[in-house]
Amino acid sequence: MKITSAKFVGGVTGTSELLDNGIPQVAFIGRSNVGKSSVINTLTGQKDLARTSSFPGRTQQINIFLINNALYLFDLPGYGYAQVSKEVQEGLHKLIYWYLFDSTYVQKKVVLIIDANVGPTEDDLETLRSLEEHAKDIVVVANKIDKIKKPEYEEQIKKLQGLIGKRKIVLYSAEEKIGIEELTDEILG
Ligand code: GTP
Ligand code: MG
Repeated sequence: MKITSAKFVGGVTGTSELLDNGIPQVAFIGRSNVGKSSVINTLTGQKDLARTSSFPGRTQQINIFLINNALYLFDLPGYGYAQVSKEVQEGLHKLIYWYLFDSTYVQKKVVLIIDANVGPTEDDLETLRSLEEHAKDIVVVANKIDKIKKPEYEEQIKKLQGLIGKRKIVLYSAEEKIGIEELTDEILG
């Protein structure tokens, strides 16, 4: 299957009929600045669909995109970024936690994006454990593979796999548009 249409339908910060209308939800989560919004843009082939920024903390609500008139992609705020105020950070954390773990909403998939070059942080591994504990259908994406130095590539991928465990990792670059087909299949398949 292919993504043939994508449009922004709204942003939510709590209960909303958009979350309750029966359209399946695929949630994108990960550290601030890891490239969640960029990944959504490359998947949908629309450069400016989700707002991206080199300033971490850009996305501060759950932004909802309707794909093929049949599926929602949720662009969640990033976690673990200290450069927004503590209050904002706590608010974002609460929103993510509520949506994923405390609410009654069910996600078709949860796409956890990590930085391929940096590797999974403690925050990432804790999020992965929480998702596993809540029996989420998880897809791990290592974005920014273009940033890995070529001679270190194989070693770095091995290291990522070792830290993530047996779970499959989709290797991705929003910058160089690598991994789009594989991730599309994971999400739509
Ligand atoms: P928040 O909304 O703040 O949580 O960030 P985000 O995870 O949505 O990240 P965003 O998509 O805004 O991208 C953050 C920065 O990383 C931008 O400067 C992007 O251009 C850059 N970026 C995203 N993906 C890639 C990639 O695959 N490779 C490289 N080199 N840079 C990337
Ligand atoms: Mg974003």
